[in-house]
Amino acid sequence: RTFETFVNEPNTDFEKGSEVKALQRAIAKIKKDLPQQYPLVIGGERIYTDEKIHSINPAKKDKVVGYASKANKDHAEKALQVATETFKSWKQTTAEERAEYLFKAADIMRERRHEFSATLILEAGKNYEEADAEVSEAIDFLEFYGRSAIKLESDNHDVKSIEGERNRLKYVPLGVGFIIPPWNFPLAICIGLTASAVVTGNTTLLKPASLTPGIAYKFFEIIEEAGLPDGVINFVTGDSSEIGDYLTGHPKTRFVSFTGSKDVGLHINEIVGRTAEGQIWIKRLNAEMGGKDGIVIDETADLEAAAQAIIDSGFTFQGQKCSAGSRVVVVESVYDELIEKVVDRAKQITVGNGEENNFVGPVIDQKAYNKILEYIEIGKKEAKLVLGGNTGDDEGYYIEPTIFIDAEKDDVIMQEEIFGPVIAIAKAKDWEEAIDIYNSTDYGLTGGFFSSEQSRIDQAVNKMHCGNLYINRNITGALVGVHPFGGFNLSGTDSKAGSYDYLKLFSQGKLYTQKL
Ligand code: SER
Repeated sequence: RTFETFVNEPNTDFEKGSEVKALQRAIAKIKKDLPQQYPLVIGGERIYTDEKIHSINPAKKDKVVGYASKANKDHAEKALQVATETFKSWKQTTAEERAEYLFKAADIMRERRHEFSATLILEAGKNYEEADAEVSEAIDFLEFYGRSAIKLESDNHDVKSIEGERNRLKYVPLGVGFIIPPWNFPLAICIGLTASAVVTGNTTLLKPASLTPGIAYKFFEIIEEAGLPDGVINFVTGDSSEIGDYLTGHPKTRFVSFTGSKDVGLHINEIVGRTAEGQIWIKRLNAEMGGKDGIVIDETADLEAAAQAIIDSGFTFQGQKCSAGSRVVVVESVYDELIEKVVDRAKQITVGNGEENNFVGPVIDQKAYNKILEYIEIGKKEAKLVLGGNTGDDEGYYIEPTIFIDAEKDDVIMQEEIFGPVIAIAKAKDWEEAIDIYNSTDYGLTGGFFSSEQSRIDQAVNKMHCGNLYINRNITGALVGVHPFGGFNLSGTDSKAGSYDYLKLFSQGKLYTQKL
């Protein structure tokens, strides 16, 4: 398996009844065994604590998916010592050896993909396509980072040898990484953050999101089954206040990989910036935070395509993506026409359990539900509600797809990340003003531009300030190796997940020169 031969894992074709049945069987099978118990795993030792984190099915809030053990400071300290000790041997392995564990895990996941999708449906409230695409992305991260690590090790990184001297630049591991993935891509990003660190020779403490520990534990089980040595990944579920800050601030932590909200990311950044007693390095932080992503539509755009992209970008997985298109800016001459097309499409959306493959499922928990509803109330004061705004069946955290129009640039609903199925649409006099409105945010993750004028597209590429700009298409669903992902400003450190360069963030360059 080489870097050059990498191809993205194909998604399941749910047009085939047999695939739908296979997934439904997997859901039924998983449900039979719920609730599960998830231990901490430190150096291969499984520890079940008395105190538990409850993982709930957001589609049926009275159903517990699992009970995860809750690490305290002693567990965290022990895990850090184990990871520090394991690093001594792990860093001596070759990239090829390390990549092999990732490839084996990818093979296992490929064989059992519906089981992983089923868990995502039951624990995170995804529908079939969203869950299945996430499994593909998870496999991609394993395959892509495995292959990239092998290339990184053999590459001489364009360093020249001169007469009488042979020069080599190699990338060596950093040390112990503290990995903090999010709940919204609790399999793919969990694997992306962990696999990239491990395959470059680092050891890790993985603290899965407290809302979705079950799917993270499933990943841990397959990487263990693939034969990864004990202590390379230590599985430590727990509270941020008890172990999160402790591990981030620990002098033996070498780097932190985080994906989550802006507020938490900035908090981590502050702790990472302090030098603890006994610390002998500057810690690295890779943070992928939020977004207030938007789509700009000019009067030459294909409005059917734009309307569909707005629906897909704003409402898939209930808008709970940092890449979600929660703002739309439209040139006034096509404003009413576009809104009609978007609203017509949004009216067709079904809201309900992902188990029945509804387009919009539940939001993740009570806190998110309350927060989104508060934003809807704010939106009603700032703009004009044209669709949704209500809750759905209260057996789950359901909120209808909601559309506001006539929003203004500085409105709260145009500025703050809502992380729910809510889209705000604003009017601009022309495409240039529309880009100005797009740019007036603290974030800079994804953006979309719809136009049929190439000269405008070229200018939009220069002017729209974001890490991932998509022209004439939807703005979510970055593919590994195809759309390196990461944003500007308060969206994070622009770490470009899913790129070859990404692995250098978990390595340090060592130059050696030999006189001939
Ligand atoms: N990478 C995801 C996307 O592109 C978001 O995290 O939608």
